[in-house]
Amino acid sequence: MSWRDFWNQDTPIYVSGRHKVLHYARIAGDIARLVPSPDAAVLDFGCGEALSADRVAARCGRLYLCDAAPLVRERLLARFAGDARIAVLAPEDAESLPDESLDLIVANSVIQYLSLDELRALLRLSRLKLKGGGSLILADVIPPDVSPLTDASALLSFAWKGGFLGAALVGLARTAVSDYRRLRDELGLAQYDEAEMIEILGEAGLSGERLAWNIGHNPSRMTFRARPLP
Ligand SMILES: C[S@@+](CC[C@H](N)C(=O)[O-])C[C@H]1O[C@@H](n2cnc3c(N)ncnc32)[C@H](O)[C@@H]1O
Repeated sequence: MSWRDFWNQDTPIYVSGRHKVLHYARIAGDIARLVPSPDAAVLDFGCGEALSADRVAARCGRLYLCDAAPLVRERLLARFAGDARIAVLAPEDAESLPDESLDLIVANSVIQYLSLDELRALLRLSRLKLKGGGSLILADVIPPDVSPLTDASALLSFAWKGGFLGAALVGLARTAVSDYRRLRDELGLAQYDEAEMIEILGEAGLSGERLAWNIGHNPSRMTFRARPLP
């Protein structure tokens, strides 16, 4: 099983329905903060089920939800069929978007599942599709020194505040014996430190800076903003 296969199913990562709803509400709120203008064209790359994407769509002109998993796209299409501001895309469809047409591309909690070649392909795509003043946000990037225990403690803190602590404790135990744990051991998760990330962005023709905050609930991970170099 690859990471792509893993995400094309119901996963144990969301420990309960409440967790999933609160997770996507938080992500949508954070992405909405980054939308530069009410008419912006935004691509959420590796968006997952994006349950609250309508909140992002309400802040921009056009929202492209793009995910590699067919099951995820099917659910997005069913959920947002009535929303004319939202389009659902496979990654290969994103390549057909007009060049220099996007104001913002967000990939939250995605690049840890990509090989370096796949990351570079995403950066090439971004360089091509972003307008001159547009931004790519790579978020929830895992630095090399962050352990699964730090992730677990960030989840428990989110669960405590969100009222799903019991489910989180059961969920963590379930995850520990799941395909996720097995794949994490076998395939690993891509981890980058700040300097490495900025270097990789630079090689792709993007200027990069680390933001002071991270999208989502885990402050020990990192968010980068990248812009096309002239
Ligand atoms: C951890 S989930 C993150 C979902 C969402 N961005 C969030 O913040 O909750 C990772 C998502 O990335 C998608 N993904 C993985 N590899 C991808 C690729 N090469 N192209 C597009 N999406 C990909 C998976 O299908 C999955 O939905």
